[in-house]
Amino acid sequence: MKTEWDYSDRAKTYDKRADYNENAIKNLLDQIQLFPEELVADIGAGTGKLTKILLQNGLSVEAIEPNNNMRFIGIKNTKGKKVNWYEATGENTGLDKSSVSAVFFGSSFNVVDQTKTLEEVKRILIPKGWFVCMWNHRDLSDPTQVQIEKIIKSFIPNYNYGLRREEPNDVINKSGFFSSINNIEDRFIVRMLKTDIVDAWKSHDTLFRQSNGRFNEIINSISDLLQDDFYDVPYFTRCWFARHV
Ligand SMILES: C[S@@+](CC[C@H](N)C(=O)[O-])C[C@H]1O[C@@H](n2cnc3c(N)ncnc32)[C@H](O)[C@@H]1O
Repeated sequence: MKTEWDYSDRAKTYDKRADYNENAIKNLLDQIQLFPEELVADIGAGTGKLTKILLQNGLSVEAIEPNNNMRFIGIKNTKGKKVNWYEATGENTGLDKSSVSAVFFGSSFNVVDQTKTLEEVKRILIPKGWFVCMWNHRDLSDPTQVQIEKIIKSFIPNYNYGLRREEPNDVINKSGFFSSINNIEDRFIVRMLKTDIVDAWKSHDTLFRQSNGRFNEIINSISDLLQDDFYDVPYFTRCWFARHV
């Protein structure tokens, strides 16, 4: 299925990205208190990074993913688990009205038409159901990350992380569908092989979309910068969640 954000060429290395922080997820699930086996939706489920965590926490998942390459890996990664995969979008999930207790977006609320998608979220949520979105953000104050940012800006002076690093509060409030917004943030360190860091960058569509044909050069420059075999990469998992009124 064609979408504005096309992950076809990002899929192969996508799983080298850091997972979401366990404490942040635990804290989130403690606060929204879902029952075992409760049905939830994971929108833009990709290769199933967040889907797997939801399944491990005993939930049943409707995984929505428009991109074939991402979805095929996701299906493989979650084989035999309580999950159904659908080729669909956040704007039009195809799920039944009032059918899920929570709708999750793992690094995907920035790739949808947010206003349309919130309408769809409201349609598929049960009353008092939950909207949740989250991203992993590298800590840009870390010295290695400062160097990486310099490389990116040397190729793309106006580089912009866009919605993936912006608080989604305004659009959620504006929809009028949700009560007050809560926020969870947890900093953590992931020890990553240099080769995995480079692969993770190859899966970065926000960078690809602004790279003006110079994506491989940027990736090669990041690879040249990294002279050690592995790095401790500091991340924040940041989640926002709100209850359907
Ligand atoms: C950054 S990946 C996130 C994958 C996964 N949720 C995770 O946490 O790692 C964004 C995903 O959103 C999908 N996507 C793109 N446009 C979409 C849309 N309109 N609706 C739903 N998903 C979309 C992409 O194909 C991609 O798999």
